[in-house]
Amino acid sequence: MQLPLSVCLILFSFLLWANHVSSKSSTYIIHMDKPSMPKAFSTHHYWYSSLLKSATSAEAKLIYTYDHAFHGFSAVLSIDELQALKKSEGFVSASVSKAVTLDTTRSVSFLGLNTATGIWPASHYGKDVIIGIIDSGIWPESPSFNDDGMTEIPPGWKGICQQGPDFNSSLCNKKLIGARFFDAASRAEDPERFFISARDTDGHGTHVASIAAGNFVNNVSYFGYAPGTARGVAPRARIAAYKTGSNEADTLAAVDQAVADGVHIISISLGYETANLFDNPIAAATFGAREKGIIVCKSAGNRGPSIATMIAGIPWEFVVASGTIDRWFAGTITLGNGKTITGFTMFPARASVINLPLIYNETVLACDSSELLSQSFLSRIVVCNITNEDGPVNFFAVMQNLINSNVRAAVIISEDSVRIRSTYFPFPGAVITSGQAVELIEYATTSASPTATIDFQQTIIGPNLPRGAASPALSGSSSRGPSQTYQEILKPDIMAPGVLILAAYSPIGTGSQIGDRIFLSTDYALESGTSMATPHIAGVAALLKAVHPEWSPAAIQSAMMTTANHLDETKQPIKDQSFISYRVASPLGMGSGQVDPNRALDPGLVYESTPQDLADLVCSMNYTREQIRAIIRSSYNCSRRSPDLNYPSFIALFNFDQRGMTLTRTFKRTVTNVGSGAAKYRMKLEKPENSTVTVTPTTLVFGKKYEKRSYSLSIRYRGDIELTYRQGSLTWIEETGKYVVRSPIVISGGVDNYG
Ligand SMILES: *[C@@H]1O[C@H](CO)[C@@H](O)[C@H](O)[C@H]1NC(C)=O
Ligand SMILES: *[C@@H]1O[C@H](CO)[C@@H](O)[C@H](O)[C@H]1NC(C)=O
Ligand SMILES: *[C@@H]1O[C@H](CO)[C@@H](O)[C@H](O)[C@H]1NC(C)=O
Ligand SMILES: *[C@@H]1O[C@H](CO)[C@@H](O)[C@H](O)[C@H]1NC(C)=O
Ligand SMILES: *[C@@H]1O[C@H](CO)[C@@H](O)[C@H](O)[C@H]1NC(C)=O
Ligand SMILES: *[C@@H]1O[C@H](CO)[C@@H](O)[C@H](O)[C@H]1NC(C)=O
Ligand SMILES: *[C@@H]1O[C@H](CO)[C@@H](O)[C@H](O)[C@H]1NC(C)=O
Repeated sequence: MQLPLSVCLILFSFLLWANHVSSKSSTYIIHMDKPSMPKAFSTHHYWYSSLLKSATSAEAKLIYTYDHAFHGFSAVLSIDELQALKKSEGFVSASVSKAVTLDTTRSVSFLGLNTATGIWPASHYGKDVIIGIIDSGIWPESPSFNDDGMTEIPPGWKGICQQGPDFNSSLCNKKLIGARFFDAASRAEDPERFFISARDTDGHGTHVASIAAGNFVNNVSYFGYAPGTARGVAPRARIAAYKTGSNEADTLAAVDQAVADGVHIISISLGYETANLFDNPIAAATFGAREKGIIVCKSAGNRGPSIATMIAGIPWEFVVASGTIDRWFAGTITLGNGKTITGFTMFPARASVINLPLIYNETVLACDSSELLSQSFLSRIVVCNITNEDGPVNFFAVMQNLINSNVRAAVIISEDSVRIRSTYFPFPGAVITSGQAVELIEYATTSASPTATIDFQQTIIGPNLPRGAASPALSGSSSRGPSQTYQEILKPDIMAPGVLILAAYSPIGTGSQIGDRIFLSTDYALESGTSMATPHIAGVAALLKAVHPEWSPAAIQSAMMTTANHLDETKQPIKDQSFISYRVASPLGMGSGQVDPNRALDPGLVYESTPQDLADLVCSMNYTREQIRAIIRSSYNCSRRSPDLNYPSFIALFNFDQRGMTLTRTFKRTVTNVGSGAAKYRMKLEKPENSTVTVTPTTLVFGKKYEKRSYSLSIRYRGDIELTYRQGSLTWIEETGKYVVRSPIVISGGVDNYG
């Protein structure tokens, strides 16, 4: 996109300014080895303060100390001060605190959650599980956080409801049991960037929290679209909100505090996108959280559809891709001859576009010219053709031109209509395909005085017309693996609804707009992105945790992955929305597939892994001893190294310069029987094209519950593909057909091949 000159100038001066600051001092996150603390110090806090005082010249500028998910502190330091600090006993590593960004209800029933059977009643709707939301804060007055039907807060909870000028601590309740804010690092870098409370002024954090665990609220909608009852995936789970500034040191403090407070699940829909694990303190903190039995759900990012666009796909985070649901929003165009055409629209009002003249002519067809300013377009509906054979259309620019014109409404022809699924729709109009346009053009060019009427605010459940695509489909923007952080484990892990999801919002957030001056406020908004998919997975994890409190994070993750659906509602392989012709989606985009909560309740077998196994994995990565310590600390030694984590998916990589060579990769896996008793499973294999896959043994016999059985899977493949990846699967099927335990297999070029 071409930036206007003024924006370029602002960006340029900002870069200069940022540069200037970093040459003076920066916020650093210092990772310390706590067992090295000298006996003289009663607490880690005194130790860190003392180190800082002796290493730095002026008053110590300590921002946070961390002690739960991560050991260390953050501070504003010059390079010299940092060098002095590095000589201290117990120093592990230091990194500059980098920027963190926001990744930007029907979905609950679309996932099969219902009050009659399955995981909702079995889990008592997630009763007593606590989900920590690390995001932009919370709008506590939202009806979604009412505590009707919630029981007393369990005594072990250590969180607080932090008071602020606009946030009375009495605003928390039995649903929203904690709210805190972390802005010290952002503020240290720029005093203008501060929070006064955990209040969400953006809307993102409120949206995410209510998707995970919002209570039931009747009769909500987004300007008439998506009307119905709002509710989260785990409507009886509790929410603790941690508002974080746009700085890693703040986010790290939020994760550390969530762990200390006693959350069971952490949901993070933020980008902290540092590819190197050892240079990513939040990855070290989520490892710490995982050690304490906490499941960390994380958004894949919205950089798709190209391969290898996922930056931080971290092995111990449950990484979530975004998919569509079976609902879309429409307007009906009724032609003067009575014929109707249904197009996509999200114009946020019931505008009266009734029987106005319809104009279809060459001059205005692109709808990008100043011709539209002419008086002759007053009270007219124009037909715009924004089909662009060379790439995506700039829908924003077309809308802006229409807003500035004299036109009353527009019918927009675009083959890209699937991608124009944004809630930004400030001009009255509807998007149709060129196939649908044939009839309209025929009428507009043959009738002496063509007219049309457009009706807005329609919600349609069913195939995603006008394309007729089945749901779920993988969203085009969802980031794709292999993960730049560590490519030997398939990421993302799973897919959940993330396209046009209705959930609670801050009334002061950017709700919607009409024209370029009228801004509308809303308590419920439709938002899209892996940010919205992630809390669906956090909610399902809460439901599973409520049913199986003894299950490890690995078991809960495995249950969801091996029961995920790789087929859509028409029983065809899930498609990828990024291709015009809708190719089959790859596990590099959707992981194991769409989460199926009711099946995850009883998965039959699980792939377990312990923090020690994760440490063994880190030890096998080609890092120095110091880099490894920066991730897993000194509580683990690297006496066992193994890249072969007991994971419920498989990825075999090759380099493009290995094309023509035959490569072999062998994986060893152990499954634990969590079914009711003795069971026998047989293997079913779907081989990736041009490969040989051998599994031994081919049957697994379990005498009783919790018994473990191991198998090996070996792939021989030629690195000669024209495609950049191939896919298959291994499924263990229990004799009676009760359990089906599926793992995707991917053969792919490595991250370096995708530039
Ligand atoms: C918080 O709200 C309670 C109950 O509405 C009120 O009594 C109290 O004065 C408020 N506290 C502050 C600091 O505003
Ligand atoms: C639902 O909300 C709309 C708009 O606020 C209101 O007009 C309508 O009466 C409500 N319906 C019910 C059943 O509460
Ligand atoms: C297109 O329609 C406008 C408005 O009616 C009219 O002024 C203009 O002359 C038309 N152009 C052509 C090429 O027909
Ligand atoms: C719309 O524009 C595309 C690309 O320029 C062209 O191929 C197509 O025929 C046009 N359709 C109509 C209805 O004008
Ligand atoms: C580790 O690094 C060495 C030397 O840089 C290289 O030869 C080796 O292939 C690397 N191993 C892996 C698993 O990346
Ligand atoms: C490494 O850790 C293992 C397991 O905790 C322990 O048995 C072993 O002795 C340790 N090795 C070294 C060299 O510290
Ligand atoms: C499979 O192998 C054959 C023969 O080597 C080759 O022609 C073909 O392109 C390969 N197919 C794929 C999908 O790589």
